[in-house]
Amino acid sequence: MGVLRPPHPPKRVPLIGDIIGLDPVKPMQNTARILGEIGPIYQRRILGMRLTFLGGADIAAEVNDDATWQKAVPRPLQLLRPIAEDGLFTAYNDEPNWHKAHAILAPAFTQSSMRSYHDTMAQVVDEMCSAWDGASGDVDVAAEMTKLALETIGRCGFGYRFDSFGRREVDPFLPALKDMLEYIQAQGVPVPGRKVVDALTGRTRQHQRNVDYMFKVVDDVIADRQTNPHDEPRDLLDLMLTTKDPETGDQLDARNVRNQILTFLVAGHETTASALSFALYLLATHPDEAAKARAEVDELWSTGAAVRFEEVAKLRTVRRVIDETMRLWPTSPGYFREAKQDTVLDGRYPFKQGEWLMVVLQQVHRDPAVWGDDADQFRPDRFQSDEVRARPGHGYKPFGTGLRACIGRQFAYHEMILALATILHRYDFAADPGYTLDVAEQMTLKPAGFRLSITRRAGADASAPAPAT
Ligand code: HEM
Repeated sequence: MGVLRPPHPPKRVPLIGDIIGLDPVKPMQNTARILGEIGPIYQRRILGMRLTFLGGADIAAEVNDDATWQKAVPRPLQLLRPIAEDGLFTAYNDEPNWHKAHAILAPAFTQSSMRSYHDTMAQVVDEMCSAWDGASGDVDVAAEMTKLALETIGRCGFGYRFDSFGRREVDPFLPALKDMLEYIQAQGVPVPGRKVVDALTGRTRQHQRNVDYMFKVVDDVIADRQTNPHDEPRDLLDLMLTTKDPETGDQLDARNVRNQILTFLVAGHETTASALSFALYLLATHPDEAAKARAEVDELWSTGAAVRFEEVAKLRTVRRVIDETMRLWPTSPGYFREAKQDTVLDGRYPFKQGEWLMVVLQQVHRDPAVWGDDADQFRPDRFQSDEVRARPGHGYKPFGTGLRACIGRQFAYHEMILALATILHRYDFAADPGYTLDVAEQMTLKPAGFRLSITRRAGADASAPAPAT
């Protein structure tokens, strides 16, 4: 068969290429829509640069194969490199610090390791609920879930308190982080003259101030722990500062520890917060599913005691709500893969070694060949074990794939199940009937402007055990 190029979007401009139809505000949703129209693969060529997108489960399965393809760190991820350098998420596959940090930190993310984070996670959820009880009316869902997730990773990972729910103004770290991510996201869309405009308007200087501030906070956290070490490892920071890579016998160097902390603060909060926000939106707009999940939680809580570590795994209905939420709205909208050698995709599209593409999860997760004709419907029961067994695994990859898949998966599940269960148990909630889903894109996808009106349920107990010391 001759050499083929994947289809491209309509209206290719001579010399320049496929610039018509780019959406700088909602690029991922635009890409998913085009994949829905063109098919499971398409390619944009802009000034000779090739951007290929995959949206079919079968074709994505080919690039998930670690034998022929591997994680790519193209420009959108490279933009994070000045902040996180060779931290786990942005490291190139051949950087020795990836292997070292992965070996040192993976044990902190096993299912059983979640036991040591459980009380702190429950404590943070309880602080959020107490703040909600003190205020009346409705809550800004994305803002609250962001505070929850950042506080959780800050405390569980590094013993750092942002005190998100104890004070009126948010910790300055949060707006600095948000502004930094927005700036980086904007750099990813090629707009002529942006650099000049950013310099003239002070945007570049503001970005540098944000970065400097975040570096300082993280350096202070490290210095504090070095001055006041724990007797034995209690959190990620302890592991980073004291554990040796079993293979090389090396510890992480000081600069890499900072990179990892920034990586975990970024990778460990936006995604989780957005997934929780979508779950609340979907439950609020599907009261029958909310009732099912609430019934399961109420049964577990009937003793009045706080949810214990072992009980989180029993909340199967809540877990299915989360799985179905991440299917419809994968908050990490995709991942990049590059060919490890010259290869041919789908039996017809040649890719040279080092050429990369993006797997667009929103489309893969709605591929009718895997998910059926009701793929756009919110139906958590599709994650009942018999349905899961009957489906190929490659149609669902919210945490990425292979060697470089998400290290924080168990952490995210534990945190999300605990938070959602507590909210279901403690509150009746409803969406504003006038709200239409508006999905914003800021590195992750999230429901913008979504507020939830909440009413404390009679007799609902607090979730948290005594504060962790
Ligand atoms: C719902 C929540 C989450 C989602 C959807 C998610 C999604 C992902 C995805 C898709 C990747 C692979 C990216 C790629 O291939 O380029 C990834 C990697 C990663 N995630 Fe998550 N994540 C979540 C939560 C977390 C949490 C809670 C943490 C930390 C506590 C975390 C830390 C990381 C790190 C460090 C990596 C890089 C792993 C490596 O390359 O070795 N994530 N995540």
